[in-house]
Amino acid sequence: MQIDIVQGDITKLKVDAIVNAANTSLFGGGGVDGAIHAAAGPELLAECRKLRATTYPDGLASGLAVATGAGNLPARWVIHTPGPNRHVGQTSTRVLSNCFTNSLYVASRRGATSIAFPAIGAGAYGWDPEEVALIAAEAIRNWFDTYRHVTSLHRVVLVAYNTDVEAAFHKAFDTPRTDSELIHGH
Ligand code: APR
Repeated sequence: MQIDIVQGDITKLKVDAIVNAANTSLFGGGGVDGAIHAAAGPELLAECRKLRATTYPDGLASGLAVATGAGNLPARWVIHTPGPNRHVGQTSTRVLSNCFTNSLYVASRRGATSIAFPAIGAGAYGWDPEEVALIAAEAIRNWFDTYRHVTSLHRVVLVAYNTDVEAAFHKAFDTPRTDSELIHGH
């Protein structure tokens, strides 16, 4: 499994699935959510509205993930996952970890071979980029420990929008795992 860390705009990446740091309404917003909807075009919002009218009438709970098409984006799918919003007291690292884990499950079930993640939660939702990066690294490594030999996924891209987040991703992903993490997964 190949892990790449890049700085740039996730909407430009030619990977099978890009992950959207969505909100629970699925109706778009600012940050990466706004950029993805703007680049994908109106059909993305139309597909999200259909999800709200059917599978997720009350919206998508934080930590869950759902795939849609990608409209005009170079990617094949957008995987929407709302992170926990620290500003309203949602400080569960488990829920943030679930955003990464569930996005991998959803992408793998679609047969994706590559997936790109932004720093979910590290913008409007107030999480420290270093903490997001550590949570992402643990979730992604643990998932591949279990599914490496059965998943279609073989490339994970961590997309930073600025140098601080890029440094946080490198710090988290370039640090070798301790024996305890390798044995116990944490
Ligand atoms: N490509 C890659 N990363 C991006 C992009 C982009 N085009 N735009 C922003 N980012 C980065 C931010 O710099 C931050 O590091 O994505 C990270 C997540 O920031 P947000 O997009 O603000 O996401 P989040 O903190 O999870 O807040 C989600 O904000 O936009 C609303 O509808 C969204 O309510 C939801 C909330």
